[in-house]
Amino acid sequence: MIRSVVRGTGQSLPRRIMKNADFEGMVETSDEWIAQRTGIRQRHIASDDETTASLGEGAARAALADAGLTPDDIDLIVLATSTPNNTFPATAVEIQQRLGMRHGYAFDMQAVCSGFVYAVTTADAYIRAGLAKRVLVIGSETFSRILDWSDRSTCVLFGDGAGAMVLEATEGAGTIADRGVLAASLRSDGTHKEKLYVDGGPSTTGTVGHLRMEGREVFKHAVGMITDVIEATFSQAGITADDLDWFVPHQANKRIIDASAKKLGIAEEKVVITVNLHGNTSAASVPLALAIAAADGRIKRGDLVLLEAMGGGFTWGAVLVRW
Ligand code: ACO
Repeated sequence: MIRSVVRGTGQSLPRRIMKNADFEGMVETSDEWIAQRTGIRQRHIASDDETTASLGEGAARAALADAGLTPDDIDLIVLATSTPNNTFPATAVEIQQRLGMRHGYAFDMQAVCSGFVYAVTTADAYIRAGLAKRVLVIGSETFSRILDWSDRSTCVLFGDGAGAMVLEATEGAGTIADRGVLAASLRSDGTHKEKLYVDGGPSTTGTVGHLRMEGREVFKHAVGMITDVIEATFSQAGITADDLDWFVPHQANKRIIDASAKKLGIAEEKVVITVNLHGNTSAASVPLALAIAAADGRIKRGDLVLLEAMGGGFTWGAVLVRW
């Protein structure tokens, strides 16, 4: 049976770091409020010369180096983003061009903060179907460009960045002991659109628009949706929380992460946290956290790793990987 395994990971962050205290002269807020409510201490913000494409290229190159591969070895790029460089062409194709690739194919996926979980599931399905052998799966975002910088309830929450993973075809039975993507569950429900959306778009206002969010409403639904989709993934794979080595959740809010882990019975020391350093980087948050935890030696070959995300739409999902 053809399956997909993780061959490498990488990440790329904008040069500029913005601390919570840097907001204090801009909107009525404080380092204490932001840190207490969200766990965020700082975030990276893209300068004019840094874009979703350039950050995605940086993460892709780092993942290729980690995998010991070159762009020649890749036949598909899937980019998860809600902040593309242009409405079209797909930013994945721009990254393909930046990598010097004129072979293979590339496309964007849009599932907001769940984008990377959707993209890994899609890449795995393409590999299983024999449509690709090695896939660069990238999450790259520049949410700073769609924030309303006068709205304190949203502008303090987000940051920019990119993470990437190389998935490669392999043969194997796909038992729980085998390396690779083992199980995945995806969900969406458009009745929640108004709780988290961007108030612009090519087919409506003809503008890019700004992010709008009813934070308390999102929070209210988050833990239940996250734990439900993770339980579905556990039962698909026939495991329990005790079998996990690492939980790598979407990094939106430390309180949502803590409450989800607690409800699922996942020990605190198994949870990878980067929200303090990056804020919410939407589709980039899971691959950024993965790349950091793999590079510092926490996530090791053979570990059982659970990825999870929830975001605008609403969309949500989970992927179980034997590293
Ligand atoms: N600084 C100081 N005060 C603030 C700030 C701020 N930056 N932002 C809001 N407040 C105020 C509000 O105005 C409100 O004041 P009021 O009581 O006088 O009306 C008060 O703080 C409490 O506001 P709440 O919204 O109830 O605060 P809450 O504890 O819910 O925390 C937060 C807000 C952090 C946004 C929280 O609701 C949250 O994290 N929600 C989930 C958000 C999320 O995860 N979004 C990402 C989903 S992923 C994606 O797809 C993009």
